[in-house]
Amino acid sequence: MSQPPTLSAAQIPSERLLLRTTLHEADREALIELSTDPEVRAHLGGPQPRHEVEQRLDTRLATGATTSPGSYVIADNTTDQVIGTLMLARRATDRPGHVTEDGEELELGYVLRRSAWGAGFAFEAATAALRAAAHELPDQPVLIVTQTANKRSLKLAARLGFRPVSTFEEFDAEQTLCTAPLSTFRT
Ligand SMILES: CC(C)(COP(=O)(O)OP(=O)(O)OC[C@H]1O[C@@H](n2cnc3c(N)ncnc32)[C@H](O)[C@@H]1OP(=O)(O)O)[C@@H](O)C(=O)NCCC(=O)NCCS
Repeated sequence: MSQPPTLSAAQIPSERLLLRTTLHEADREALIELSTDPEVRAHLGGPQPRHEVEQRLDTRLATGATTSPGSYVIADNTTDQVIGTLMLARRATDRPGHVTEDGEELELGYVLRRSAWGAGFAFEAATAALRAAAHELPDQPVLIVTQTANKRSLKLAARLGFRPVSTFEEFDAEQTLCTAPLSTFRT
């Protein structure tokens, strides 16, 4: 069965940022940093080996675009420099953490380079993506699942208007499941 849709826009602009699906060679070092920085990966399973990240990137850069639906790089809209990534994709039914019987809810994920934390960029990018999704898709619950120890991520979820509803174990860590109706972002 085909997956229910997610965002289709190739670009989503906001005040300081541009979310884009296109990938350029100039994005390489920033994308490597996102997957190998121990601080950025502290609640995401730890840093990944650089050679594995480079191999994966070679394939993705060759296609010139992010590969999975709802997947964006977050770029500074004046320099086009990548500061992070954002995903609004379907949460697989066989994973724990759902708020509907059918599962496959939209799930929001975000990762910023360490140097970009503390400036409201994740909030701005998430708001722009959720607003675009709310105009494109019918109302439905959106999830954010984050390690309970990830205080910055939980704070961001709360600022976006997501409500914590349960906790569960995955990847040997306690996860907090937060949710918000997509329609609340249709402003
Ligand atoms: C989770 C993560 C994206 C949060 O980044 P962040 O920069 O703290 O998030 P926000 O965009 O909400 O920014 C909030 C901070 O910017 C400050 N800020 C500065 N200018 C701002 C502005 N114009 N608007 C809003 N906030 C602003 C806020 O005061 C707040 O500061 P504080 O952290 O000192 O309280 C980041 O920590 C990260 O990438 N972590 C690693 C990846 C990860 O764990 N992702 C979660 C997986 S779901």
